[in-house]
Amino acid sequence: MVRLQTAQRLYFFVSNCNGQFGLHRARLYPIILVRRVTKVPFFDLKKQFLPLREEILNELAAVCDDQAFILGAKVEKLEQAITSLCGKGHAVGVSSGTDAELLILMALGIGPGDAVVTTPFTFFSTAGCVARLGAKPAFVDIDPGTFCLSPEKLELFFSTKCTFDEDILRTPDGFRIRAVIPIHLFGLCCRMDEIQAICARYALPVIEDAAQAIGVDYPSSGEIKHAGGIGDFGYFSFYPTKNLGAFGDAGMAMARDSRIAERMKALRNHGMAPKYQHEFVGGNFRLDSLQAAILLKKLPHLEGWSRRRWEIAQYYRNKFVNLTPEIRLPDEPHVEQLGHRGHNYHQFVVRATRRDELREHLKDCGIGTEIYYPIPLHRQKCFAYLEDGPFPESEAAAREVLALPIFPELTDSEVELVADGVAAFPKK
Ligand SMILES: Cc1ncc(COP(=O)(O)O)c(C=O)c1O
Repeated sequence: MVRLQTAQRLYFFVSNCNGQFGLHRARLYPIILVRRVTKVPFFDLKKQFLPLREEILNELAAVCDDQAFILGAKVEKLEQAITSLCGKGHAVGVSSGTDAELLILMALGIGPGDAVVTTPFTFFSTAGCVARLGAKPAFVDIDPGTFCLSPEKLELFFSTKCTFDEDILRTPDGFRIRAVIPIHLFGLCCRMDEIQAICARYALPVIEDAAQAIGVDYPSSGEIKHAGGIGDFGYFSFYPTKNLGAFGDAGMAMARDSRIAERMKALRNHGMAPKYQHEFVGGNFRLDSLQAAILLKKLPHLEGWSRRRWEIAQYYRNKFVNLTPEIRLPDEPHVEQLGHRGHNYHQFVVRATRRDELREHLKDCGIGTEIYYPIPLHRQKCFAYLEDGPFPESEAAAREVLALPIFPELTDSEVELVADGVAAFPKK
């Protein structure tokens, strides 16, 4: 519905989602303001908070009563809980997903002269952390169906463009490749078996960017593994809009090796271990007890929230299956085997060649959408010096992707409105 405010009174027009408006109540006054009414927001955090309000506020009150805010028992409890969710490894609570990645790269001693491989179709921080340490982000393109690092392209990059001498793998411009960061984008795990097999040949550690993939499973030769516990390292973001979100910034770094995890614990606190002794320089990447307390209260709900996201995704998929080629659905491997555990649908991202028109059309229907991500990283000004590319799949994805509302608190009728809105997108 579009609300037209005139000089003397309000008029309401009802939209049929095709851009045609029926006059509901008419008088001829000059129109001074046009405002669309949102029927389905892209996201609404308040709806998640309301039912948990009391228990979370009680928890916060308990931390305030204790007056112990930095690291401590709550953070340790959260680290244990995330370790058991991942099934493997050692968790280190930190101040954000970005800091978790930085901490891992610092623990590996990555710096000038080094390169770290990742994809250009992601949130900025994945490559930003590499550059902050003076190393080079070396990009490899994505798989168009999953938006994740393509193992085939990784193999091709290593075997045809890089050099491998005396056990050192180098980029075409001579940087020593030190690690690979596959990103489990939108809540689906990358093809980790293939990626890990390729990296093993060059003795490269694999760091999972699981910022968007908490609670996601991955089938690995007869075994079920869990995001964050598959690679040598992994990290999660608890940014408020993530599937498990804090009330501010927070993150978790994972390391398979207990000695490296201990080093990471020191690094998150200025490299201090024991007190006032610094063998190396770290930073302040500590996690607050307030955030840990909130996350511990939310964690038991994660499974139910993921299930609901999955239901919504399946509803969309069924509704959109016949809309091709206008709307293309993301790949959903492992469905038969894993169901809702195989994808946490942090985002439900479709592809549309007329993406901007679709977005405008949905806006007219009162439906919020987002674009993740509009500019691939090799096209960012700050990475122009890399002179890298082209990465055709990342560039096509940046032109075509559109994220639809998907959060557990969406009602069935809201989900239906979104699906009907997309289905009403006029064909060309
Ligand atoms: C894929 C990806 N990596 C890393 C991050 C960084 O996490 P944070 O925002 O907690 O620093 C994010 C967060 O948006 C992300 O989506």
